[in-house]
Amino acid sequence: MPADPRAVESLLAFWVEAGVDVAYADAPVDRMALGLEALKPKPVAAPGLAPTGAARPALVRELADPGAVAAAHDAAAGAEDLTQLAAAIAAFDGCELKRQGARQAVFARGAPDAPVMVIGEGPGADEDVQGAPFVGRAGKLLDKMLAAAGLTDRVFITNTVFWRPPGNRTPTPAEQAACAPFVERAIALVRPRLLLLAGGASAKHMLQTSDGILALRGRWFEWRSADGGLELPALPTLHPAFLLRQPAAKKKAWEDLLKLTERLDRPPRPT
Ligand code: URA
Repeated sequence: MPADPRAVESLLAFWVEAGVDVAYADAPVDRMALGLEALKPKPVAAPGLAPTGAARPALVRELADPGAVAAAHDAAAGAEDLTQLAAAIAAFDGCELKRQGARQAVFARGAPDAPVMVIGEGPGADEDVQGAPFVGRAGKLLDKMLAAAGLTDRVFITNTVFWRPPGNRTPTPAEQAACAPFVERAIALVRPRLLLLAGGASAKHMLQTSDGILALRGRWFEWRSADGGLELPALPTLHPAFLLRQPAAKKKAWEDLLKLTERLDRPPRPT
């Protein structure tokens, strides 16, 4: 029986109102009918990231696709500079987000030899259109804060994932794990002295912890690459999108930025 156009229109309006802005596939999937078995994470290990002292949550390991992580690792290792890395990311098919409505890969912006690397969560709608991270409202606030801290030309900005999660949902650990070798390669090529982890999804993933951002922010952690070859001080802070919703929290984020600049500009200890 053909659907009543008014009912379809009303249903679509309901979905839009509820925040749905993308369809994954042409046909619906009844996941309840598939049963709980199909929803269980695959029990595989992720060779993507090293622990940083705190125990890695089992969930992260279980959800990663080892084939995708290995392919990302190979593709990232072949990139000899940031231009090649951007091309390798754009050509990479191992992150599920690429097939969930994103227009393009969003890699990075900023100084290629920056002493600070800012790592956000993932591209949003504006980033998806413009092809650069943190260019929407949250990005403008981030830029203002970085400028006020004297960091404008001293940052390289990227995300834990390179494709916009549909509806701006938080990227899953599996999606972050698939992109992690590219993030690590970016760190190896830029060689920043410090990492600033913007928001809970970034901090939890990069530090492999399940602690919340309010417990993590403003404290120094040691980030370590998967092979242990790179180690960097990392400072979690509040995400600028959160600050737009909770302006009273800006004070805390500002304290974090001051902590970062203090360490960045601290004279080296005499040897
Ligand atoms: N939020 C992020 O975490 N990253 C972006 O690039 C934009 C918004």
